[in-house]
Amino acid sequence: MVEVSEQQAAIALLRWYADMGIDEAVATSPADLKSWGAKPAAPIAKPSAAAATTPVFEPDDDAVPADEAIAQAKKIAAACATYETLEAAVKEFDGCPLKAGAKNTVFADGIPGSDLLIIGEAPGRDEDRTGKPFVGRAGQLLDKMLAAIDRSRTENTLISNVIYWRPPGNRTPSQIETAICRPFVERLIEITDPKVIMLAGGAPMQALLGITGIMRARGVWREIETPSGKRYPALPIFHPAFLLRQPANKRLAWADLQAVQTRLRED
Ligand code: URA
Repeated sequence: MVEVSEQQAAIALLRWYADMGIDEAVATSPADLKSWGAKPAAPIAKPSAAAATTPVFEPDDDAVPADEAIAQAKKIAAACATYETLEAAVKEFDGCPLKAGAKNTVFADGIPGSDLLIIGEAPGRDEDRTGKPFVGRAGQLLDKMLAAIDRSRTENTLISNVIYWRPPGNRTPSQIETAICRPFVERLIEITDPKVIMLAGGAPMQALLGITGIMRARGVWREIETPSGKRYPALPIFHPAFLLRQPANKRLAWADLQAVQTRLRED
């Protein structure tokens, strides 16, 4: 039998992970990557058999309790009067635990004050790396969809998400994470004051309209009421990542885009 050293076994395992497409380490809880290396390294204990098989994610003792974080977010968001102050406030805000594991805050991209506001779910890997929403494959499809109705983020559209930090491993954001970000999302709506809001996918639809089931809800106009009491027309559409997986549904997405264009052209 060929003897394999621990180091060779570890390298073989890493190579296998990479071949399987696992090219980054993620856990279900965010980790504060920036603090790594700041503390002296703890002595490495030999792991027990149970510890070797059961990953343990300790809750962050420093984390702000959720209700406090939501209250803070509401207060801070309400005090922001412009797009720029809101963007700076979101970047400063430490109340969402997702921030600890993210490289960048992904606030928005496009033209502040546009009459079309698109709200998606959460940043993925490309967005986390660049700090801009919808820049990966789904974002490229979104840009093409917008171009089909004479819209673009460089001219007449603003694009954002209901979550500003990448969830570990692109998992679905929790209700608490969504609730913590929501005051900022609502304030962005009020400051932008758009004629139409397009909700890209089920997550922003659930976060802002409180409904589920994108297959039936897409293409049906609803209203988002913000804390100021103003109501904004909102249309749920399929998320472009879903359209990449199921291109046959682009037919329905095209109908939704045309409905948006018609609404934008109305007086
Ligand atoms: N998907 C989203 O919902 N938002 C992004 O920013 C990127 C992908």
